[in-house]
Amino acid sequence: MRAYEYILHKRQGGALTGEEVKSFIRGYVAGEIADYQMAAMCMAIFFRGMEEGELLAWTEAMLYSGETYDLSGLPGVKVDKHSTGGVGDKLSLALAPWVASLGVVVPMVSGRGLGHTGGTLDKLESIEGFCVGLSKQRFMEILGKHGLCMVGQSETLAPADKKLYALRDVTATVDCVPLIASSIMSKKLAEGADALVLDVKVGGGAFMKTEAQARTLAQTLIAIGEGMGKPTVALLSRMDAPLGRAIGNALEVEEALEMLQGRGPADAMALTRRLAVEMLLLAGRAPEVAAAEKLLEEALSSGRAWACFVDVVRAQGGNVKLLENPKLLPKARRRKLLHAPRAGYICRQEALALGQAAVALGAGRRRVEDTIDVAVGLVVLCKVGEWLEEGQPWLEIHYNEEGRLEEAMRHLAQALEVREEPPPPPALVVGRMDKTCLGLMG
Ligand code: URA
Repeated sequence: MRAYEYILHKRQGGALTGEEVKSFIRGYVAGEIADYQMAAMCMAIFFRGMEEGELLAWTEAMLYSGETYDLSGLPGVKVDKHSTGGVGDKLSLALAPWVASLGVVVPMVSGRGLGHTGGTLDKLESIEGFCVGLSKQRFMEILGKHGLCMVGQSETLAPADKKLYALRDVTATVDCVPLIASSIMSKKLAEGADALVLDVKVGGGAFMKTEAQARTLAQTLIAIGEGMGKPTVALLSRMDAPLGRAIGNALEVEEALEMLQGRGPADAMALTRRLAVEMLLLAGRAPEVAAAEKLLEEALSSGRAWACFVDVVRAQGGNVKLLENPKLLPKARRRKLLHAPRAGYICRQEALALGQAAVALGAGRRRVEDTIDVAVGLVVLCKVGEWLEEGQPWLEIHYNEEGRLEEAMRHLAQALEVREEPPPPPALVVGRMDKTCLGLMG
């Protein structure tokens, strides 16, 4: 294995063969290729991209870097959802039990925070005792009993993504179409889902800044999924301002609990519903949108969605007392309010800056070995389109360390813009793509 030559070849714009890709990924997982060599390879891929065959080989090598789960023994079409990463994006926490409570099996393999965006695993781990690293046998048991299990990549399940994900997070190689697509699809294919719904984020707070980039990413994800025989649907959703009000791990769990009781913020509820409808349609659980929406309302109002989440948290070792009384979730010691410098309608509340501020407070990582502080974060008190009086608080900062607060404040300095005229209503879902897009795009 000549890691150096492969990196050089890629850096010069060449394509790696299937065999070369396989041996590079295998060598990395085995520890024969160092982190710094993989980091250099990721940077070369970032600048040079990947050819179609090369990307398929890379994804397959990641997928088969560990064991794969066969869920054919479980009833129905197994459907999962994944987001490409956003700020305040706690949707999976509410969406997965909501859909599972309607009898659809949802095997969910998620990730940790990446860059300025949060990750489902970190959020779940703010529930005391919750275990995201289960054996295959336990995963299958919980999935069979409750229709939902939420875990992470591990030493045995998509281990290549586990290592690469953490490495990319700290080497500025996250926002790259082939690396995102292979990361998402390798773990989703390894978990054994039959169909996938993807929330492809676009905007200043997303990894894809323009709709053209987001469409390319969605098309790439769909091509990989459909190529492996898994029907895949992508919604393109705007990520300019944070979703919902809470940013930060325990704070987001608290908001997800409100969502499961039908009390969540309008934008987060609306997008979760749209994604849930797509999942129910793919699973064949509802014949059309209106029927799916009706089922979803019933699951929420009857408390079935909530009960499913409680059952799964208990099964995965989490302390369910925290769900019944979210005041017991980890809380930061200090709070600080930010006030509007002048009166006006909020026309910009920059997701990227808010996400970076949350990372600065300790909600995300800067180095692979960093531990995060699940209690810290931000709460958006007024959303885009709302009127703010001069001096009215618009953001609540939850923090533990003064030094970190200072840095967060630097990110927040330009995060808010108010104007006299109300902005147009913020867009949420700006596109839907499925296999019909393959062949239509260049
Ligand atoms: N989600 C993932 O799982 N991987 C990425 O690279 C980005 C978002």
